[in-house]
Amino acid sequence: MPDDILYAETHRPQFHFTPKSNWTNDPNGLVYYRGEYHLFFQHNPTGITWGNMTWGHAISSDLVHWTQAEHALHPDELGTIFSGSAVVDWNNSAGFQTGEEKTLIVFYTSAGEDPVPFTQSIAYSNDCGRSWSKYHNNPVIEHICAQNRDPKVFWHSPTDQWIMALYLDGNDYTIYRSKDLKSWDRLCDLEIPGTSECPDLFELPINGDPNDTAWVYWGANGGYLLGQFDGQVFRAETEVLKAEHGPNGYAAQTWSDAPDGRLLQISWMRGGKYPAMPFNQQMSFPVELSLRTTRDGIRLCREPIAEIGLLHHQTYQWNDCALIPGENLAPATHSQLFDIRLEIEPGKARAFGIKIRGIDLRYEGGKIAFQNTEVALDPVDERLVLQLLIDRTSLEIFGNRGELSMSICYLPEAADHPLVFYAEGSPAKVISLAVHELRSAWT
Ligand code: FRU
Repeated sequence: MPDDILYAETHRPQFHFTPKSNWTNDPNGLVYYRGEYHLFFQHNPTGITWGNMTWGHAISSDLVHWTQAEHALHPDELGTIFSGSAVVDWNNSAGFQTGEEKTLIVFYTSAGEDPVPFTQSIAYSNDCGRSWSKYHNNPVIEHICAQNRDPKVFWHSPTDQWIMALYLDGNDYTIYRSKDLKSWDRLCDLEIPGTSECPDLFELPINGDPNDTAWVYWGANGGYLLGQFDGQVFRAETEVLKAEHGPNGYAAQTWSDAPDGRLLQISWMRGGKYPAMPFNQQMSFPVELSLRTTRDGIRLCREPIAEIGLLHHQTYQWNDCALIPGENLAPATHSQLFDIRLEIEPGKARAFGIKIRGIDLRYEGGKIAFQNTEVALDPVDERLVLQLLIDRTSLEIFGNRGELSMSICYLPEAADHPLVFYAEGSPAKVISLAVHELRSAWT
């Protein structure tokens, strides 16, 4: 397909990453080094459905505009290349560094086929991720059980060692440690009821206070435990909490070494439908993570990264006005791409909502609903704060500054529909409404 048509197709996301062609699922190997964010992704190089798992690769300087690079890791005799992570080996712990450039090291699951079991392997790059060599002594962790997989590695500075979170089986996860990234010792196991696959483990300040932190052990469906980790044992201090309330957010992972102390995450928007498209599946828009005290206790909050502003185009703005039943508010736009920010006091309104490409996003009875998903969201001091990212085939909803996040795939009719804001019963009070049309990230 000629390049001028590629990325302009009817259902092609315009500010969410998709590979040029074929199937993708989990984001892998997220790492920042020397001005570049790397995004590797599970990819089937030869098919539009899942299979032949290979690591595709894309690079961005701003997390918004991506350039797809050569595939990084291809299947070998140990198996196909399942999910994993990446680090910068700042101190050359593994001894792979050859020149001035720090080595990037990736950790992945070698998904063996019977009789070859699932094991964990590593590969390294001495040219900023442009070419990759697999370690000659792979695997670095032998088979433990079942389809153990998805290693996520980070540097734990208080104990001067590398830590790996790893999925075992069922709802079971484990933690390993290493000094050289090649030999690994198992530290402790844990369970995240209701969650499996794709672990992540990270520390965050609570309410921005660097002296008061908690650790998050995260599983693929957005279920997570809050607790403490001392380099030996993860001690959970909560039940399983949920950070992803949409039907399509899965396998999220955070970037290693993101600048400015930010903790940034991207996920696979699992389950979207893309009829007659050359690609299948999309990534979420990246979010920034924080821990905040909410009415329910300390919670992980997810908010879209501020870089969405790079795509802002025309803006329609309303302040201090009433959304009156029967009098819809409809900006004069034909765009399909929006960043919408709404602060609203529902007051006595029975419901309010937004029609998005003809589909109703509705708030009623303390719940926000879109298609088959309905989630509770209470106003804070009478007020709801909503941010919506709308792409051609996805909607991300962020409520009360990221306390609620929902990733949703949808398939609109190709026809154009106006964007309409409405209230029912009684007026709702719009404190502020900004409708930012977005430019495509691909043009
Ligand atoms: C999650 C997952 C991972 C695995 C990968 C295979 O979506 O099942 O556990 O490594 O996808 O593509």
